[in-house]
Amino acid sequence: MIPAPDAGQLLGLIVAALLLQAVGVAVLAIRQRQRAADRPDPAATDADPDPSTDLRQPLAWPGTRPWRVVARQHEDLAQTQCSFLLEAVDGTPPPSFRPGQFLTFALDLPDARAPGGQRQVTRCYSLSDRPGLPQLRVTIKRVPAPADHPEWPAGLSSNHFHDQVQVGDILQVRAPSGHFHIDEDASVPAVLVAGGIGITPMVSMLGWLITHQPARPVHLYYGLRSRREHAFQAHLQALQASHPALRLHVVYSRPEASDRLGVDHHHEGHVDLALLQRTLPHGRHRFFICGPGAMMGTLVPALRAWGVPDEDIRFEAFGPASVQRPAATATRDASAARLPIRFQRSGRSLVWDGQDASLLDFAERHAVPIESGCRSGGCGTCATRLIDGRVGYDGTPDHDVPAGHCLPCVARPLTALVLEA
Ligand SMILES: Cc1cc2nc3c(=O)[nH]c(=O)nc-3n(C[C@H](O)[C@H](O)[C@H](O)COP(=O)(O)OP(=O)(O)OC[C@H]3O[C@@H](n4cnc5c(N)ncnc54)[C@H](O)[C@@H]3O)c2cc1C
Ligand code: FES
Repeated sequence: MIPAPDAGQLLGLIVAALLLQAVGVAVLAIRQRQRAADRPDPAATDADPDPSTDLRQPLAWPGTRPWRVVARQHEDLAQTQCSFLLEAVDGTPPPSFRPGQFLTFALDLPDARAPGGQRQVTRCYSLSDRPGLPQLRVTIKRVPAPADHPEWPAGLSSNHFHDQVQVGDILQVRAPSGHFHIDEDASVPAVLVAGGIGITPMVSMLGWLITHQPARPVHLYYGLRSRREHAFQAHLQALQASHPALRLHVVYSRPEASDRLGVDHHHEGHVDLALLQRTLPHGRHRFFICGPGAMMGTLVPALRAWGVPDEDIRFEAFGPASVQRPAATATRDASAARLPIRFQRSGRSLVWDGQDASLLDFAERHAVPIESGCRSGGCGTCATRLIDGRVGYDGTPDHDVPAGHCLPCVARPLTALVLEA
């Protein structure tokens, strides 16, 4: 006869049974998750078999990866805009991306004053050709010192690319990202407006539109000074000749005597609302705009005032990079409250005094290192964990702010802060 279990044995049996049940439930959950992962994603399977037509690509890789420069070529007569073609060092084919997105480069540049004689500079460059090609391409304009301050150093990254980066060199690159890209809605004609080097994302969008939505009407307005700076001229003319859905409007603001109206360019002056009103057919259009501050600052409000809804106006500024503009920032935040800011990792406790345009400028002024790229809320490179407090933005940043983080390049404190930096 089996003796009846005492109270202690009974408790032991109940605990063992509960443990077995918990293990069973956990195993079941893992199996279910495994099966779900093995199942093809319906969002992926309903896509076109050609991956380059699918605009819903996730980030292709975390951090940076090495890419080799396999070719470089100037795109304009003045040789101020140079394309660099890249292949992954590990031989993998380029990822797909959304036409209009950019790559972020982490460059080690010589700097006699920096420890080790080098400093890291991060810069973003739009992909300037469509996805689905064997190489990635960026096109970089050489940035000189400002005309009124020729004594200042010329643009760090752009001049490094033009003067130093050669075929065979290896560059550290972050995956394509950015929210400024062409949409898939072929029912709304696309209007691409580029000023100067803002042509780069437009060439990518145009390539994708012509390949995947050849019947969608597309109007490209390209404003620049003269034929000497006319990038991709032969390419754009060839596209116009072979694609009836494309209307090309090249606008020179300072044509030279040898520039031929009707051949090299179609209009003289600037790309403004009056030109768009004069040349666009009636009906709804979706605008994609990228150009210098002055163009964006007038054109975007003008389109809104014309009645174009916000959802049909997409734009990107090639925002300031390493440039500090103390005069502007001083006036902007002169009235800001003094707020304690703690940078946890650096062990620094500082006071925000309203002298800086952003938390990134503030951190850099106090030698607290925060990695940055676009410096305009577009790339997510500067995302920093917000341990305590609240920050504010002038508008919604282009890059989705990760939960519990902030984007210091466009954030200012609303309360005392503790940041993981
Ligand atoms: C999303 C995005 C996409 C972009 N895509 C492209 C692209 O496709 N092609 C492209 O060419 N660019 C692109 N850019 C711009 C690019 O990222 C860089 O900003 C640009 O190349 C200038 O960087 P730089 O290092 O050469 O110049 P910086 O070193 O940042 O200098 C910029 C200017 O500031 C001046 N300067 C130097 N010191 C000071 C000082 N103390 N005070 C004030 N001014 C000073 C320099 O002389 C120069 O004129 C893009 C930017 C963004 C954000
Ligand atoms: S540096 Fe790009 S989002 Fe801040």
